Amino acid sequence: MSLLKTIASLIYLLSAVCYVIGVHMMRSPKTARNGNLLSGLGMAMAVVMILVEIIAKGQITLIGWTVLFAGLLIGILYGVIRARKVPMTDVPQLVSLFNAVGGGAAATIGIFDYTHEAVGTSLSLAFSIPVLLDIIIGGITFSGSLIATGKLSGHVPGKPISFPGDKLINGLAVLAIIVAGVWMIGFPSAYWPMVLALLASLIFGLLMTLPIGGADMPVVVSLLNAFTGLAVAFAGFVIDNQVLIIAGALVGAAGTILTLQMAEAMNRSVANIIAGGFGSGDSNGSTGAGAEVPTNIKKTTPDDVGMQLAYAHNVMIVPGYGLAAAQAQHEVAELAKLLTDAGINVNYAIHPVAGRMPGHMNVLLADVNVPYDQMKQLDEANSMFENTDVSLVIGANDVTNPLAREKGNAISGMPILDVDKSKSVVVIKRSMSTGYAGVQNPLFSEDQTSMMFSDAKKGLQEIIAATKGYLD
Ligand code: TAP
Repeated sequence: MSLLKTIASLIYLLSAVCYVIGVHMMRSPKTARNGNLLSGLGMAMAVVMILVEIIAKGQITLIGWTVLFAGLLIGILYGVIRARKVPMTDVPQLVSLFNAVGGGAAATIGIFDYTHEAVGTSLSLAFSIPVLLDIIIGGITFSGSLIATGKLSGHVPGKPISFPGDKLINGLAVLAIIVAGVWMIGFPSAYWPMVLALLASLIFGLLMTLPIGGADMPVVVSLLNAFTGLAVAFAGFVIDNQVLIIAGALVGAAGTILTLQMAEAMNRSVANIIAGGFGSGDSNGSTGAGAEVPTNIKKTTPDDVGMQLAYAHNVMIVPGYGLAAAQAQHEVAELAKLLTDAGINVNYAIHPVAGRMPGHMNVLLADVNVPYDQMKQLDEANSMFENTDVSLVIGANDVTNPLAREKGNAISGMPILDVDKSKSVVVIKRSMSTGYAGVQNPLFSEDQTSMMFSDAKKGLQEIIAATKGYLD
């Protein structure tokens, strides 16, 4: 092994270590930022080392350099500007767009290698299988992720889209992928099987994602993220690059674990989500199925809520999707600070799938500098509700629904926040509409619960004003 190859192997190993430690640090909000930086450093080292290797080989032409640097420049500029400007609520579609780029890049590597090295020659299985998988998985991820991006950003309708014969077309696409794949491996003498495999994969990705409801998209994005990882790992085998294999395997494993955890926290299987179940969109004003619409509810006012909070010892804030939709995170942090400064014990109960993306509530609250030690995850929060004087549920619905403890409805078995165990519950939402799962919530008519019908941001502003009056 040449000296350069040895140095390159060591640098790739070092950058892989940075990814692994970086991913580990992302497990906690306290270390996540540094974990991200460390992973970025690992990636930068790998990119520089690849450039050094390319220069040392001396094979690249002027056009090659131009394309390479134009690509790098566009990628870096777009990545930095978009990532810095993106609002928290738009992060899932940005991640999905990055998935599409990753899948597309992996498929392109497969296409390049097949067209330049394979056609007309005999192929070893060690080469042809990764190339084929690269094209197939990369193609599916590319088109599927673009549709997911469109659905999340509202450019493609969020509701499930299907049409007569779509399942037949999907079946034919799978058949075409198999036939083209066998042809590519067995008889690498023409381009058409590769073109067929690519087209069929693109169609499959498209038709796999279109029928899935917009609100299920975060799980699908995570699944496609795992696919991107696999495609990148196969690209690593194709071009014999260890760092791509390690990074791809990490992304594939992390994406798979996240997908399974999200599905588990929603008490649904990944297959059920892909097949399309509930979750065809966000709350749309329907009253929903699964229980009667609670009628004997008690309404409350900002003044009453302010008084309850001002005289409480322990307050638990339960944020949900509505808080994010109303962009009320600044107001909730202001209210919590007001109470904390008055000596009241305030915590936040964070459900793993509250909101519409993994870690949605953690990210939202961290963004407004809520202290990490006030954010209690499901089990810890549940152990605290019995000693909670007031639970303030803001734009959360399914994650507090006691019906999850019963059988026979869309959220049966989903772990929930036991807010109904607190002495008093105040729910801020605009109407009696259901949440994402479309199930009515009997919590709203329980004795200890009162409803404050309002937009979360406006309602919190009024509660802050009222609370100040009682604390003065
Ligand atoms: P949801 O059950 O979806 O309920 C949100 C509630 O917020 C709605 O009932 C809505 O009622 C209210 N709301 C909407 N806009 C509002 C506003 N501007 N001001 C005040 N309230 C507003 O939310 P959740 O409790 O956070 O549960 C999340 C759900 O999403 C779960 O079913 C979960 O499985 C699902 N899901 C989560 C994820 C991830 S990864 N987090 C991914 C996919 C699906 P009104 O219309 O009456 O105001």
